[in-house]
Amino acid sequence: DYIKVFAPATVANVACGFDVLGFAIDSPGDEVELTKSDTGEVRITKIIGDGGKLPTDADKNTAGVVVKAFLEAIGSKQGIDIVLHKHMPLGSGMGSSAASSAAAVYAANKLMGSPLSDLEILPFAMEGERIACGSAHADNVAPSLLGGFTLIRSYSPLDVVKIDVPDELFATVVHPKIVVNTKDARKILKGQVPLDKAIRQWGNVGALIAGLLQKDYGLISRSLEDVIIEPVRSLLLPGFDEAKQAALEAGALGFGISGSGPSLFSLNRGKKTAETVAHAIKSVYDGLGIETDLFVSAVN
Ligand code: HSE
Repeated sequence: DYIKVFAPATVANVACGFDVLGFAIDSPGDEVELTKSDTGEVRITKIIGDGGKLPTDADKNTAGVVVKAFLEAIGSKQGIDIVLHKHMPLGSGMGSSAASSAAAVYAANKLMGSPLSDLEILPFAMEGERIACGSAHADNVAPSLLGGFTLIRSYSPLDVVKIDVPDELFATVVHPKIVVNTKDARKILKGQVPLDKAIRQWGNVGALIAGLLQKDYGLISRSLEDVIIEPVRSLLLPGFDEAKQAALEAGALGFGISGSGPSLFSLNRGKKTAETVAHAIKSVYDGLGIETDLFVSAVN
């Protein structure tokens, strides 16, 4: 009647794939503990590591919302107490809210004897994103829940594809300690895309997937380009251009904003290169007097 579940941080968008591409990294991630109770209610009994910033009301907290939505969908009145361990900062661009939602719904499903598949519980985790930032995008929750690299082919109906990636592919994620709110970072985007930019972007998305499947690092490298979102959002990020240049000079295949930022990511061939790139990016932020956390992880 008790379960503890970890769900990993994720890099959403992956340069060219705004709202459709994302991958999981090994760590950090969030943990939830769920315990059945006889209260008939879903309660957030404790939140550790959020600095008091998250709501403890189960109707406002992402973990509470997803567990309630899940229980309602399976027609259960089971009471559940939730303890949430936040191991990564909010507003980091590493899918912090998504990890909590993914962990919570996965845990609830297991606690109830797995009535639904992992794919079937994904929409509940997406509801957590709606609460957290006003939009039910799946590019963080899908990889956090399913692992690896995922593509959302369609939101309506939901159609998620898992993409195999080469074993040698490693991600670097650098979190400069500034806060960017996803809601704000979405508001500044234009609702329309000029055709020439759209053509370039979907060329890149298709080629990135082909490059991953064919283990063609040159193609992966050429495709990690975002001509739509990055030019707008990078304006919110001090040191972005310098960090990009440093990452590419240090051998990264490509570089971009992780989710809605401020975290930055690169994809690299081999762990050693990923580490070198992490330190090259860190040096840029050291120069600006901005503290960073560095993460290097396999993508698979
Ligand atoms: N695709 C989303 C965005 C991810 O870029 O707004 C948010 O982490």
